[in-house]
Amino acid sequence: MIELAVVGAGHWGPNLINNFSMSGRSRVRYVVDRDENRLAAIRARFPSVEVRTDFESVVEDAELDGVVIATPTSSHFELARRAMAQGKHVLVEKPLTDSVVSSRELCALAENKGVVLMVGHVFLYNEASRRVRDFIEEDELGRIYYISMVRTNLGPIRTDVDAAWDLAAHDISLASFWLDAWPTSVSAMGGEFINPGIADVVFATLRYPNGVLVNLHASWLNPRKSRDITVVGEKKMLTFDDVDLETPLRLHDKQVSEFHAKGGADSPGLIDSFSSFRTSVHLGEVTEPVVAKSEPLRNECEHFLDCVSGLATPISDGRAGLAVVRVLDALSLSMREGGREVGVPSE
Ligand SMILES: NC(=O)c1ccc[n+]([C@@H]2O[C@H](COP(=O)([O-])OP(=O)(O)OC[C@H]3O[C@@H](n4cnc5c(N)ncnc54)[C@H](O)[C@@H]3O)[C@@H](O)[C@H]2O)c1
Repeated sequence: MIELAVVGAGHWGPNLINNFSMSGRSRVRYVVDRDENRLAAIRARFPSVEVRTDFESVVEDAELDGVVIATPTSSHFELARRAMAQGKHVLVEKPLTDSVVSSRELCALAENKGVVLMVGHVFLYNEASRRVRDFIEEDELGRIYYISMVRTNLGPIRTDVDAAWDLAAHDISLASFWLDAWPTSVSAMGGEFINPGIADVVFATLRYPNGVLVNLHASWLNPRKSRDITVVGEKKMLTFDDVDLETPLRLHDKQVSEFHAKGGADSPGLIDSFSSFRTSVHLGEVTEPVVAKSEPLRNECEHFLDCVSGLATPISDGRAGLAVVRVLDALSLSMREGGREVGVPSE
């Protein structure tokens, strides 16, 4: 049995406690939170769990194998560092930390200590996301032109990080997983309407290798809950609506094909009138690919247990988490500089 402690029992922590309690391969031995009220709620829901406010006494328990961190982003670094210093495997919620320097330090510590460091980029464990990656890998969509990603809702708001670090972290990890690459430059603008200094809405454009553009709209100040993604390829287009649990994916057999007839991408002809555009549009069927039903967070938790057991290496490891943080850091710089396009340094 893999013995775990979960730190942070707010909105998200109980989902992790539940999955690790149900697994059959792990046991949640401790739940740590600063807030006694949160701990009382956990004690009522999970009576076999020991609740504590003191993190240090928990990580010193020699029988503990791993620590799962679901506290606000600004506390991830210190908690993960102390857990790994005690030789514990760590699953930390996204984003890995709130700075490149501290994320890098955690990666080095994990490598030094020989422990698993995994980041909860849960969309990499979503069956629909995996299906999209297969479509791209199998060249079903052809060359990818651009991806548009909208992630909005009314709350929950954060005070330690902005909407990009909170929400766009998902989209950056997802786009990079699909494209098997990281952006080379970004440009972003943010709007601070609720709390000064913390952007509630971020509009960003990421430039990936091979001319692929990814556009992000992340906001916790929006009346609609949207998780709405469009992938436009040379051969086909795809939409992914993560709010639609029945049919999240739609594959559109649509393309603008005129330039092929005129010699392909290397010597494209101009489509210079409405009628020539219309004749060059191919309008095929819209299909709804079947997506296997499974719970992404359960997949993520089981993958962490596989990694702790030495059966796998993390898909979203510390280095992948660091790469996401590097992109977020570049987005913040661009926002501070009025939307200037800034390079994303490679490690
Ligand atoms: N993967 C996802 O889809 C997803 C969804 C929601 C949240 N998250 C992530 O989970 C983390 C927590 O988010 P949340 O919405 O549950 O936040 P929250 O504010 O609801 O809960 C955080 C909890 O951590 C406790 N806490 C804060 N600092 C602590 C410390 N130093 N030691 C012990 N306890 C401490 C607080 O008392 C609170 O109960 C964040 O990193 C967030 O990005 C991920």
